[in-house]
Amino acid sequence: MPGFRADTERMAAELGIDPAEVRAQLVGRRPDGRPLMRPDDTTAAELNHFGYDTDVPDVPDGPRGASADPDGLRCPLAAHIRKVNPRDQETDKGPPAATLTFAILRRGIPYDRGLLFLCFQTDITQQFELLAQRWASNPERPRQGLDNGVDLIIGRVRPGGERRARLLAGGVSTMADYVRPRGGAYLFTPSLSALRTLAGAAASSPAAGSDTCSRPGSAPDSPGAPARPPRTPRPPSPR
Ligand code: HEM
Repeated sequence: MPGFRADTERMAAELGIDPAEVRAQLVGRRPDGRPLMRPDDTTAAELNHFGYDTDVPDVPDGPRGASADPDGLRCPLAAHIRKVNPRDQETDKGPPAATLTFAILRRGIPYDRGLLFLCFQTDITQQFELLAQRWASNPERPRQGLDNGVDLIIGRVRPGGERRARLLAGGVSTMADYVRPRGGAYLFTPSLSALRTLAGAAASSPAAGSDTCSRPGSAPDSPGAPARPPRTPRPPSPR
């Protein structure tokens, strides 16, 4: 990421800590994936076994438990992984139970000299766009009312503006954008043509319109009702 290494060395000198520590706090994880939320001896099976608001228990013969960090004393509230995945924390969008409805299924693919960021979701506005704009780029979100700065990995501010974040030892700031988007696309999976083909096949199948055939998805008391895809739970509307 352009400017990231030099900037984090400057920030480290200002805070009197190691540059690797600044980078880990900006991301929320160390380069090998260990989260700051867990102790140093964390194993591969434990990399995602933690909560921000609530302690997670030991799993018998599985991952060891971890204590919570609601106020960002171990992992800063502005860390990338906290901004884009607040897990079990209340956010400006609602109570903890709603938070995971904004999560995405993510794949990063090395591409040329950069990264192809790819993610899957059911609602691009309430997931990708919400994470990138409403949470990563707002200093007071996802936890409302606390100015902890923006996500310095992907958060954007007005052009030419300074980007700030609060780390464990104090505040840092930069004029640089480490991530420079080169393009993007919103795509359907399956593709629209595949969905049309499936819809056409369903419409022309012998069962279509029959009132004697029970198909998956049709209610038992409404024989012949068109099969509907399972309903996706919708996140609460913005406050
Ligand atoms: C293209 C620039 C980006 C870079 C360099 C980047 C970097 C990272 C890194 C280093 C991690 C931690 C390692 C891992 O879990 O794999 C991570 C996790 C994550 N990133 Fe990004 N990211 C980028 C863009 C984005 C965008 C645009 C979003 C969503 C809008 C996003 C959402 C996430 C999520 C949800 C996680 C997992 C959080 C968790 O562990 O709980 N990232 N990213």
